[in-house]
Amino acid sequence: MKKITAFFLALFLFALPLQADEGMWLPSLLKQLNEKDMQALGMQITAEDIYSLNGGSLKDAIVSFGGFCTASVISSQGLLLTNHHCGYSAIQSHSSLEHNYLEDGFWAGSPAEELPNPGLTATFLVRMEEVTQQVIQGFKRGMTAAERQSIIDQNIDRLLKETPHKAHEEVQIKPFFKGLQYYLLVTVTYRDVRLVGTPPESIGKFGADTDNWEWPRHTGDFSLFRIYAGPDNLPADYSPDNRPYQAPKHLRISLQGIKEGDFTLVFGYPARTNEYLPASGIKHILEVMDPVRVGVRDRSLALIGAAMRSNPIVKLKYASKFARIANGWKKWIGEMQGLKRSQAIAKRTQFELLFLERLQNNPSWQEIYGDLLPRFKVLYADLAPYERSKQYYTEFTGRNVDLLSYAGLFRRLLKIYRESGEKGFLEFKERLQPYLQKQYKNYFAEVDRKVFAALMEMYLNKVPENHLPKGLKEEWTQKQIEELSKKLYENSSFSTWETVEKLFELKPEELKKEIENDPAYLLFSRLAEAYEKQVQPKYQHIKEEIEELERSYLRGLITVFPKKKFYPDANGTLRVTYGQVRGYQPRDGVVYLSKTYLKGVMEKYKPGDYEFDVPKKLRELYRRKRYGRYGEGSRMPVCFLGTNHTTGGNSGSPVLDARGQLIGLNFDRVWEGTMSDIYYDGSICRNIMVDIRYVLFIIDRFAGASRLVEEMDIVAD
Ligand code: ARG
Ligand code: ASP
Repeated sequence: MKKITAFFLALFLFALPLQADEGMWLPSLLKQLNEKDMQALGMQITAEDIYSLNGGSLKDAIVSFGGFCTASVISSQGLLLTNHHCGYSAIQSHSSLEHNYLEDGFWAGSPAEELPNPGLTATFLVRMEEVTQQVIQGFKRGMTAAERQSIIDQNIDRLLKETPHKAHEEVQIKPFFKGLQYYLLVTVTYRDVRLVGTPPESIGKFGADTDNWEWPRHTGDFSLFRIYAGPDNLPADYSPDNRPYQAPKHLRISLQGIKEGDFTLVFGYPARTNEYLPASGIKHILEVMDPVRVGVRDRSLALIGAAMRSNPIVKLKYASKFARIANGWKKWIGEMQGLKRSQAIAKRTQFELLFLERLQNNPSWQEIYGDLLPRFKVLYADLAPYERSKQYYTEFTGRNVDLLSYAGLFRRLLKIYRESGEKGFLEFKERLQPYLQKQYKNYFAEVDRKVFAALMEMYLNKVPENHLPKGLKEEWTQKQIEELSKKLYENSSFSTWETVEKLFELKPEELKKEIENDPAYLLFSRLAEAYEKQVQPKYQHIKEEIEELERSYLRGLITVFPKKKFYPDANGTLRVTYGQVRGYQPRDGVVYLSKTYLKGVMEKYKPGDYEFDVPKKLRELYRRKRYGRYGEGSRMPVCFLGTNHTTGGNSGSPVLDARGQLIGLNFDRVWEGTMSDIYYDGSICRNIMVDIRYVLFIIDRFAGASRLVEEMDIVAD
């Protein structure tokens, strides 16, 4: 009976049309694993055209942008294309009331006007190579996890030293497949990356938080930067003498346009996914982690939002903070809904039955992997209370209440003082001061206090007594929270920049004394100590056991399903994902088409609105409808959907067509499908891209920055 079930399950799982779109593949393994699939989907180029060590492959035009996004090289002069939201903080840092580039956009008229951004980098991958055998060399049976780790560390150290590389290159070794494999990566990082152009927010962030994570979308989410290099075309610190990087490879741009079903390839740097969880692990995210994070942010967003609506200055200053908090909040809500709707837990459980069935037919597998799934269950049950407290703690003290985050930074300053003396103290202070000055510009004590009071109440009610500091609950009774919080903000030096600035004038010893007596510092320290003693160690311990199990489980999956192709979870390394232009059905009776047009921008237009205003020039261009080579006749394409499996970090990734030419720019996913980080469902997971023709239209016709269009390589046919 059981056998028959498994047989049908097997048919069900593997006879389904292959979800060819799932996966974030290693560029160096495409030939082996994916080339055939890709060509069957319509791709006309080869794996070698995408990744090759002989130079000139597409990978040489892709960079990790600042380590948090992706960008691509789109001219021989090192011009970079990325998202507006990836360039956001650089754009914000050049903005002031006199020249507000967020509001008005910015277009450098010549290279001399391109604006430097200290700290911003662009990293190319030179090559990658598997080094698992060298890394685990020396492993013996029966070793403890700690012993194995120490061997790994030694081997990695040695490999890093031994690997031949040029002076300007860097070498790193990273684990893949939960540490079942290791890869060596050689990279080159350019350190002078300048802002070249950006549309106004009313184009680059059109729809803002309301449209974020949603389809239909009408955002021109792009900005342009340029890599600058030293006289030898190699990486150099910023200097006015640096020259535009002479790029050996850049992407060619296609104006041919796209239609439903076309092949799409997204090439970029996805940050983190967790695709091989057992059903109990998915349940943990759905029932423990996400509800806490969403619950805390519900409260804080409601309060910040109300303050923003009642005061235009607060609205301006809290815009970016609100967007950051709301981005995660909305994503996790979508993730929970998507996991439920796609019945991820039930499906993963079915899959596990199949796994168990196969184990039963093979005693040696059964012995190694037979108890994994029940052990996961026990560990996740153990983890749950600690996870809850950890999430409450992180959201309360690190993400939503600025006063506590600032107190945390001062606590770190004191720790550094204790551990590395005055020198370390001064070094950290040197960095802390400008950082905080920037933070306080966008901070209002009264807004922050309200969030603090609400979250303090939540913290005391939701976190179990034995994870809380002793006596805290008695002191901060519900009736007193309002009054006590007012006192706290009145008496703490961290509640205004003026008083913080004074602190920074003090000598180390005096500063130490002031901090130690500050009520916000004292409160934060109590919270932190309770967390560090009563939650963190236990959390860490269980988590490490889970990670160990995850490695065995993944090894088990690979062994038991030898015909299935596995891709490693995202880990901040360069990946290829491929699929097709495709709409979807979000709900019963609703169909989403795969493309949007400028007409839709006008449908959403609300004069003067902070999310849906449309610049006058764009309205005029729409009225005249002369889109020339960028339009589809009298229609101007704006965004499109695809089935590419993407995640955070993929923002700014170029989208290539069947011939490897640039047709779009990835920037988001649809709400119903944000669970793709954990469970990819081909029927509702979609990535959102801007059509390259809209990008060019804005640069050329809206901004009149024709010098930029001229340096690009545009293929018209
Ligand atoms: N949801 C996209 C991503 O995860 C865009 C975020 C930026 N936009 C925003 N309104 N916060 O990064
Ligand atoms: N918007 C995300 C990013 O910034 C992309 C995503 O999560 O789909 O990388």
